Amino acid sequence: MKELNIQIALKIYEYEELSVSDRELVNAAREATGRSYAPYSHFSVGAAARLANGIIVTGTNQENAAYPSGLCAERTTLFYANSQYPEQAVEILAIAARNERGVFLDAPIPPCGACRQVMLETEKRFNHPMRILLYGTKGIYELKNVGGLLPLSFDASAME
Ligand code: THU
Repeated sequence: MKELNIQIALKIYEYEELSVSDRELVNAAREATGRSYAPYSHFSVGAAARLANGIIVTGTNQENAAYPSGLCAERTTLFYANSQYPEQAVEILAIAARNERGVFLDAPIPPCGACRQVMLETEKRFNHPMRILLYGTKGIYELKNVGGLLPLSFDASAME
């Protein structure tokens, strides 16, 4: 028997410690939460993607009375970005969320598994690391790439 310990590295920033451009992206994600459509969960998520051409694209969670038909903010954002700008790598993705009281979460918002998988595909598609900023009022997690969110991940190479 062998044991494998997989470690992930992340940095925890206070908002004021972020660079001006990262603050701009986090602000865009925070503002986007105001455009969320979440009449069922009342959990408003916003995401903002900075593309290689400098453009910022935002998206929000979009819910549906048929619950599984809704989509998370991360995927609406990445699918929109990749639809509008299929040649542009997504360099950074910032995510923020507010609870049913409209208050931003203290702890960094953890993306769901399906979104992590889509983030991975985006990173692989452009062969470009996608830095992740998970916003919380008491700290912002920064991951250098998607690998840290999805160890032992499945991608196209597994089918070779
Ligand atoms: N949600 C997101 O948009 N992103 C996440 O990372 C976690 C969950 C949405 C899906 C649903 O609209 C609501 O939050 C509650 O799960």
